[in-house]
Amino acid sequence: MQLKHLSLTNFRNFARLDAAIPDETTLILGRNAQGKTSILEAIYYLATLSSFHAERDRELINFIEGRKPLAVGRIVAEYKKGGQDHQIEIRLIKEKTRNGIDRGRKEVLIDGVKKRNREAIGNFNAVLFLPQMMQIIEGSPGERRRFLDLLISQTSLSYTENLSEYNKVISQRNALLRQLNEKGGDSAQLAFWDERLSKRGAEIILKRIQVIQELEQIAARIHHELTRSNEVLRFAYDPAYDPVSTPENQMSLMDAPTDRSMFALAQIETGFRERLESNRQEEIFRGQTSTGPHRDDMRFLANGISLGTFGSRGQVRTVMMTMKLAEVVWMKEKTGEYPVLLLDEVLAELDEIRRSDLLKYVTNGQQALLTTTDLNLFDPKFTEGKKVWRIEDGVLGDNTET
Ligand SMILES: Nc1ncnc2c1ncn2[C@@H]1O[C@H](COP(=O)(O)OP(=O)(O)O)[C@@H](O)[C@H]1O
Ligand SMILES: [Mg+2]
Repeated sequence: MQLKHLSLTNFRNFARLDAAIPDETTLILGRNAQGKTSILEAIYYLATLSSFHAERDRELINFIEGRKPLAVGRIVAEYKKGGQDHQIEIRLIKEKTRNGIDRGRKEVLIDGVKKRNREAIGNFNAVLFLPQMMQIIEGSPGERRRFLDLLISQTSLSYTENLSEYNKVISQRNALLRQLNEKGGDSAQLAFWDERLSKRGAEIILKRIQVIQELEQIAARIHHELTRSNEVLRFAYDPAYDPVSTPENQMSLMDAPTDRSMFALAQIETGFRERLESNRQEEIFRGQTSTGPHRDDMRFLANGISLGTFGSRGQVRTVMMTMKLAEVVWMKEKTGEYPVLLLDEVLAELDEIRRSDLLKYVTNGQQALLTTTDLNLFDPKFTEGKKVWRIEDGVLGDNTET
């Protein structure tokens, strides 16, 4: 995977950016609030069609452009994948509805042909590492689901589709639950939605079981190296609807992941549907669907200790680094190519040893873009001969080499 050229129009604080991207490493240098993160955000958007922090897509459109009745922000990239040249164009559009209300939508073209959004995800592949991504370990379950979904979606169209259909069914089913709660009626109407929900839900659960296991294997190996054999890293999947029924008295002192690899799709589907049926009265009472992949969680365990609850700052940092490196390897296994690696000011967060570990991995031959406010954070041996972009107020200055 090779990003060749990037151009931004009215994207965040860039009125216009046009840049050829070097094959290996690019260092993006600039003071705070100049647009460094925005460049990485744009590139990551190409892969996921989703921003990692904007609430709404239309926030990505440049403020000044955004005042117009019809405002358009644009990300265009030329890239090479599987030996072929491709182009992807994303148009972020903000327009007024007939009632004068702002509405956002987007259009995606791949090699000049318009695609449905979900088909466009994962044509381009990237792994992004932001300092605030420690929230994946320490934050709410929603952060971990989002992390998994963005990663898996990049390599599986069927996962993206199942997820999107699942979410639609959830809102329709919840609407019916609320209606049954408020007005009463025949609860057997839920069967129609239960069937759809369990079908899509089982696909999602099965995929998450597989991917978490695959990631764990890769991550454990990397983590072993990064911690100089001091920590055994494990990932535990905690599905809200769990095909394994664990009797409560089986809680052990050491936290360990449960193996769910023996479950077939049909088993999960049937079990999930039966659970929905047996929860019916309670769910009508609550007016919402209480179990299923939309409530899933996962845990990161170092030497049997859950890091979300008990991890030290340093441990969490190292595990996050492991995770990102594991994502890169996993994606390479799935797609046959390295994703573009995007590292946003992560060096500042790491100590000397972790810094040099990370940079060792980064120079493995894949393409990487790193932002920083300070070139001195890098070992001079690392920066030697690398392209440095200087960004000031949404303008790319002279390209230089160190
Ligand atoms: N839609 C937008 N239009 C114009 N400017 C924006 C928009 N969204 C954010 N900004 C501004 O862009 C600047 C660059 O942000 P960012 O890329 O995070 O900078 P850096 O990573 O260099 O610190 C910030 O000053 C931010 O307020
Ligand atoms: Mg930034």
